Amino acid sequence: MLLGIDTRKHRHPDHAIDPIFAARWSPRAMSGEPVADADLHRCLEAARWAASSFNEQPWRFLYARRGTPHFDTFLGLLLPANQAWAKDAGVLLALVAKTNFSHNDSPNAVHMFDCGAAWHNFALQGAQLGLVVHAMAGFDWARAPGVLRVPAGYAPAAMIAVGRPGRVENLPEPLRSRELPSPRKKIAEFAFEGPFPG
Ligand SMILES: Cc1cc2nc3c(=O)[nH]c(=O)nc-3n(C[C@H](O)[C@H](O)[C@H](O)COP(=O)(O)O)c2cc1C
Repeated sequence: MLLGIDTRKHRHPDHAIDPIFAARWSPRAMSGEPVADADLHRCLEAARWAASSFNEQPWRFLYARRGTPHFDTFLGLLLPANQAWAKDAGVLLALVAKTNFSHNDSPNAVHMFDCGAAWHNFALQGAQLGLVVHAMAGFDWARAPGVLRVPAGYAPAAMIAVGRPGRVENLPEPLRSRELPSPRKKIAEFAFEGPFPG
């Protein structure tokens, strides 16, 4: 059991998979405790080993630890609906993608795809450590590059909240009643033999 909820009661894979895949989910309840630097580094280490086109590794993780001035800066980029719960994170991160290949400066069509792979390695490792790891697209995309001093050739991909699990009762509604692992489509709804079905 990870993160206080037995995900096996809510998620029933149709095929045998490693339990970590269905055990990872995106809670919002966090305790406000700090996240150990060692745990953060283990998540970043997992991200490090993601596959990427030409082994470009286009992911850049900017992080802000709770109790530092950076934390309020990062929190201030989130939309209010995310601030309402992400304020209790131990670390807030911004994942930024390098848009062009380093070897020839041509556009890397899969820079976001590769960042997604790194994000998910990060998230699986965090779940394995019993941490809440929650990605967010709900932030100020226009202001983020300036506030985070993102150089030309890089683009924000997502923000991430990481924290120690907290009490669901402390979440505001409607988040409290939504604090459950979500279901998934059936494989037949997203995987097709041959071309896209007509
Ligand atoms: C790129 C990305 C952006 C997301 N943005 C938000 C967000 O802004 N706010 C939020 O509460 N959840 C956000 N989520 C969480 C998703 O809603 C969640 O991952 C999805 O419902 C599947 O649930 P699970 O992660 O618990 O399996 C985001 C997830 C991803 C991967």
